[in-house]
Amino acid sequence: MNDLFLRACRGERTERTPVWFMRQAGRYQPEYRALRQRHGILEICRTPELAAFVTALPVQRLGVDAAILFSDIVIPVAAMGVSLRIEEGVGPVIDGRVDSRADVERLRSLEPEVDVPAVGEAVRILVKELDVPLIGFAGAPFTLASYLVEGGPSRSFIRTKGLMLSDPATWHQLMERLAESMLAHLRAQVDAGAAAVQLFDSWVGALAPGDYAQFVLPHSRRILEGLADLRVPRIHFGVGAGHLLEGMRDAGADVVGLDWRVPLDEARARLGEAVAVQGNLDPAAMLAPWERLEERAVDVLNRADGRPGHVFNLGHGVLPQTSPATLRRLVDLVAVRTTRGTE
Ligand code: CP3
Repeated sequence: MNDLFLRACRGERTERTPVWFMRQAGRYQPEYRALRQRHGILEICRTPELAAFVTALPVQRLGVDAAILFSDIVIPVAAMGVSLRIEEGVGPVIDGRVDSRADVERLRSLEPEVDVPAVGEAVRILVKELDVPLIGFAGAPFTLASYLVEGGPSRSFIRTKGLMLSDPATWHQLMERLAESMLAHLRAQVDAGAAAVQLFDSWVGALAPGDYAQFVLPHSRRILEGLADLRVPRIHFGVGAGHLLEGMRDAGADVVGLDWRVPLDEARARLGEAVAVQGNLDPAAMLAPWERLEERAVDVLNRADGRPGHVFNLGHGVLPQTSPATLRRLVDLVAVRTTRGTE
């Protein structure tokens, strides 16, 4: 079993820097696109054998040090009674937005093994066949709430912030319900064999630090602290959330995910030694000529400076235009540039 990723998450010195990619299973892969001709994305997520197949695809192809379960952050939300679909090129779209206390009260609390049985089943299949750790994941309450309140993706999150600021009681009730269910969802993935978890708060960067501390952090903390006894690394990630890194650490992360907007060395200086970092190459760099990409990747590694507690990744998901061969070449570059003794 290759456990470099888990050791780096714990801040231990490793013989090389581990690497995996957010959205490493997805549209940049011809095999995935072929499968999607025949099956919808939600259907793949809900069919354990298909989800396991797609999860494992990039592991051999790319030589990455971790697998991330193929699912979506809205899978458990749908199982809580929300009618939704995922639109290609758009993202999750919700029928009937959540905007009142009654809407919040209609959300059922998730019983993972009953409501999303395919998730646990896919994890159990995968842990038998993988030789790298499997990462389970969930959407963080703010990011999920934003889809529910906006009815779909948003740039400005006006309705979400409107609910938060005008009816804080309903807001907190919504966040509590989401937190309880996502805690259960993550615990079930770990019980089934996931060796680490990532809590995606992709859109939380829209908030000011004060609003994050007041309206979001307690709920994310409920999830992350509620996992503490399971002793698996907890990764917490947001896009454009450089101004919230300390808060996301304080919510209970062992590893803070960095997008590409914040230099890795500066983030580390702010976060201190107690947490590891993951990231942070701009996914768009994958579209550049190799020499330029190499320069950018080496810059990330130089900023990491060979110190323990770095997991190499992109600053957000692999773009569909990315060439699989370039990703493979990047994995090899990280290995060559970081191989060292463990003392
Ligand atoms: O390889 C992996 O990373 C595992 C699979 C995974 C998916 N979604 C599959 C998927 C993961 C970890 C997610 C999480 C997810 N889903 C997040 C958090 C991570 C992030 O990217 O910030 C968010 C915000 C979502 C919501 C969502 N679902 C979006 C924004 C999209 C993209 C819409 C588009 O077409 O551009 C989806 C659909 C989705 N989920 C795809 C994949 C591979 C797109 C491909 C398809 O439709 O088949």
